[in-house]
Amino acid sequence: MGEKISDKMKFHIKTYGCQMNERDSEKVYCIFKEYGFEEASIQDADVVVVNSCAVREKAESKIYSEIGRIKSINKKAKIIAMGCVAQFNHKKLKTVSDFVVGTSSIDKFYRIVKNIEDGVVFVDEKMDNPDYIFPHKKGLNAFVDIMYGCNNFCTYCIVPFTRGREISRTKESIIDEVKQLVDNGTKEVMLLGQNVNSYGHKLGYGFVDLLYEVDKIGGLERVRFTTSHPKDFSKELIYAMKELKTVCEHIHLPLQSGSNKILKLMRRGYTKEEYLEKVYLYKEQIAEGSITTDIIVGFPQETEEDFQETLEIVKNVEYDTSFSFKYSKRPLTKAREIEPQVDEDVKLRRLNELQDLQAEITQRKNKEQIGKVFDVLVEGKSKKGNMLYGRNRQNTVVNFDFKDNINARGDVVKVKITKALKHSLVGELV
Ligand code: SAH
Ligand code: SF4
Ligand code: F3S
Repeated sequence: MGEKISDKMKFHIKTYGCQMNERDSEKVYCIFKEYGFEEASIQDADVVVVNSCAVREKAESKIYSEIGRIKSINKKAKIIAMGCVAQFNHKKLKTVSDFVVGTSSIDKFYRIVKNIEDGVVFVDEKMDNPDYIFPHKKGLNAFVDIMYGCNNFCTYCIVPFTRGREISRTKESIIDEVKQLVDNGTKEVMLLGQNVNSYGHKLGYGFVDLLYEVDKIGGLERVRFTTSHPKDFSKELIYAMKELKTVCEHIHLPLQSGSNKILKLMRRGYTKEEYLEKVYLYKEQIAEGSITTDIIVGFPQETEEDFQETLEIVKNVEYDTSFSFKYSKRPLTKAREIEPQVDEDVKLRRLNELQDLQAEITQRKNKEQIGKVFDVLVEGKSKKGNMLYGRNRQNTVVNFDFKDNINARGDVVKVKITKALKHSLVGELV
């Protein structure tokens, strides 16, 4: 049996994975703080939380190596394994940790800190109360979950098994959370879901309705959202983005593949033609709209021709950035049975080719920004110290010189771009 955790403890949290995991780690951080725990290094911590990701094999193996590393640094610390690996493989994790907490059981951290010991594995199939508003750290930007889980079962993806079935939070609870954030100084929210475009269907409303309501909240400067699923990304959403002042001009629209054959095997629910049609409408309607994507190379049965079709779309759409991955076989997923699987060296070559192409496009697009003026929400001093930084509405980082009269964290300022770097822009105040 695991031992109790008593108060005045020191904690450390290590997070892998996507924004959802970052948000979950923030919840845990706030729960610890609420109960008087103090943040510390791994060496000094009494309890170390590892929040895990399972999306690719490498990510999954990370949690085991990380737990090993933590134990070698600090033998006494209690280990709490949480996140996506915890949800689908708690048995194995239990052998190397003191507590296991699944993605549907974040509320159980209250039991852990309050010393209510009725078990050391908390892996519920469903969340008790998806509308519960977990605390946030104070900050300019905040992640807000609007829905949990996923029902899409793309054939490569483990997420539906690690995050459960899709469930939307009510508008009221989301609006309350955003209002509380704004009262505490937040200027920008990122609405999070695996497929935000299917938000609210069971509740009788949709994502666009939610955006209209969030946009009305006084004092909120910017609204972003992720992830949009191309199959559900709608014209109405594009028009709402155009109309609503707070909603930023950026979409993350994961393509995954440019080959209709592969898209079908992936069970994505759209063709490349349908995808492109939506992208064209977005580009036509949203002035200066940015677009980013996710791509998988080396999905089973992907031929050289299929891969070329992906490259064609990347050239055609000209993504501002893309995140690309070699296909990784995951437990419980259908694609692991599809033959033939693609050789590792072929995957790697395709990945390199795609990433080289994207780097060229990103650089070219960044150069095209020179001379333009953007609204930048100032986040603070840049690492080098003599500049301020923030992001424009398109979500690109902009660094700029500051004068004494502006000490502008949280302000929106106009910056003219003078220089383009690989992943960011440099400019001057106008
Ligand atoms: N809900 C989001 C994606 C969540 S996972 C969506 O539908 O787009 C983030 C990204 O990881 C995916 O977009 C996909 O590109 C990648 N990914 C998921 N499973 C993978 C696998 N088995 N191998 C390689 N990449 C994978
Ligand atoms: Fe995974 Fe597909 Fe759901 Fe995204 S939509 S989380 S890729 S199953
Ligand atoms: Fe996110 Fe990884 Fe889970 S991408 S949803 S933390 S499997």
